Amino acid sequence: MANPRFLMCRPEHFAVDYAINPWMDPAGWARESTTLVGSARREWSALRRALTRLGAKVDLVPAVAGLPDLVFTANSAVVLDRKVLLARFRHGERRGEEPHFDAAFRALQARGSVDSVERLPDGIVLEGAGDCVWDDTRRLFWMGYGQRSDRAASEPVRDTFGTETVPLELVDPRFYHLDTALCTLTRGEVMFAPAAFTPQALGMIEERVAPSERIEVDTEDACRLAANAVCVGDSLVMSGCSDRLKGALAERGYRAVATPLPSFLRSGGAAFCLTLRLDRRSGAGTAVASAVA
Ligand code: ARG
Repeated sequence: MANPRFLMCRPEHFAVDYAINPWMDPAGWARESTTLVGSARREWSALRRALTRLGAKVDLVPAVAGLPDLVFTANSAVVLDRKVLLARFRHGERRGEEPHFDAAFRALQARGSVDSVERLPDGIVLEGAGDCVWDDTRRLFWMGYGQRSDRAASEPVRDTFGTETVPLELVDPRFYHLDTALCTLTRGEVMFAPAAFTPQALGMIEERVAPSERIEVDTEDACRLAANAVCVGDSLVMSGCSDRLKGALAERGYRAVATPLPSFLRSGGAAFCLTLRLDRRSGAGTAVASAVA
């Protein structure tokens, strides 16, 4: 497998300055901001190290003062087959990130790292990979809606990438992005927190994921954002999880790599949110790659 590539943003201006999800408490942050700023930087560097140790390459988007959530690059776009579909944010607090991510992807395009940068139709909200999780086994996008992104975003995703999309309705404000509650694993397992979904959405997951491939995350682990994990081969990089979940993963041959991210949990984000995978290929790309290899 080629080295995985991620887009990240140093937490130089990360803070909890406003509240757009129930994790965020600006007053609590302000009380401890001097220590939290340093912790966030150390936690982020450790995450980056954990990924590079697994062979990952990291591209950086410059941090911008006044845009504390820019660090959550998962929300910047959906990327597949070297095509970029830029995000549109729900909240004014994050809309200022859009031109910066746009510029960052155009720079990646100029360097030949991606082929095209596209926009969503007017008025449609989609907060990037945070609500659009690629499933490499089933060759589809699991899409979250009902909290941040619009259900209608599935159509432009289908049109842009030519892939199936499965829209899943999110019901719990703590799990406001799909990536806080669902994670796809290398060998086809899907780790998910049932508490985040409507019964209908759970039905759609169960229809497509065999019982042996389902790894359920209980609410305690979900509240550690254990499902917000980055899967690289057999390793699942995450802020932390219970021994029970660690055991369930080990039984299936996966290693939980804990790299604690408590400062980012204060913003409602963890490992997956802080990264954006840039090198995903749909079926055709993989077939060509393996034919060449
Ligand atoms: N404070 C950020 C927000 O509420 C956190 C985003 C986390 N990103 C994610 N992909 N879940 O938008």
